[in-house]
Amino acid sequence: MGDLVPSEAATLLRQARRVVIFTGAGISAESGVPTFRDALTGLWERFDAAALATPEAFQDDPALVWGWYEWRRGLAQRVRPNAGHEAVAAIEARVPGSVVVTQNVDDLHERAGSPAPLHLHGSLFTPRCSACAHPAPLPDGPADEPADGRRATPPGCARCSAPVRPGVVWFGEALPEAVFESAVEAASSCDLLLTVGTSGLVYPAAEIPQVAARFGAAVIQVNPQETPLDPVADVNLRGPAARVLPALVEAAWH
Ligand code: APR
Repeated sequence: MGDLVPSEAATLLRQARRVVIFTGAGISAESGVPTFRDALTGLWERFDAAALATPEAFQDDPALVWGWYEWRRGLAQRVRPNAGHEAVAAIEARVPGSVVVTQNVDDLHERAGSPAPLHLHGSLFTPRCSACAHPAPLPDGPADEPADGRRATPPGCARCSAPVRPGVVWFGEALPEAVFESAVEAASSCDLLLTVGTSGLVYPAAEIPQVAARFGAAVIQVNPQETPLDPVADVNLRGPAARVLPALVEAAWH
């Protein structure tokens, strides 16, 4: 454990009064959810995630894009939170002024016990009308998608009958304003920010750790790879979240 977590990181966490935990796809990787930079398989093999996650892609081929999100919703429902998500919830329980800010559209933080993660990029579980934004019900039952995925025509809006779209933020779209503002406010008033499992490439989300650093917080990064956030971090913990985060919690408090 000592090799995973230097005492400097444990001390920063133990002494923190307000922690922001900023997460990306890497925290769900060990639950079996592929990250965005992983190659896709099955029906999605010819695409990269960024090409499917745009308003233009949905406009051109709604069944392809809706099918992809239904496949992802099915996957998210089948997998379980891992020890990394659980360690995040343990930090929140231990440090009451903590806030989880996630770029993930799965619900693994909630299922691990995080009470109210801020979802900067929306959720797989809140579809809405693509024209009038009226909230739409989720299709009945769990998303029962074949392993290779399939095209699926989106349902029509109950109010205006336009196609329903996933409640996520696509490339080129604005983040939900109030959520982003809350995240910036939390980052500017925390004393420690943990950035976990994110490539730090997608803006404006990637500003969150930088805001914290600018306002004087310490920054600890957990990622097996180097990222553009390396220079922002006071401590870089190079390892998988499901090992490093529990070790960090253990080193801070036990
Ligand atoms: N533990 C911690 N980090 C990991 C692990 C792991 N087990 N496995 C992979 N990683 C790291 C990778 O090294 C990479 O830096 O997770 C990061 C995943 O990067 P991305 O796939 O780019 O995911 P993310 O940063 O969340 O992407 C941001 O981009 O596609 C859009 O809207 C989408 O929210 C997403 C945003």
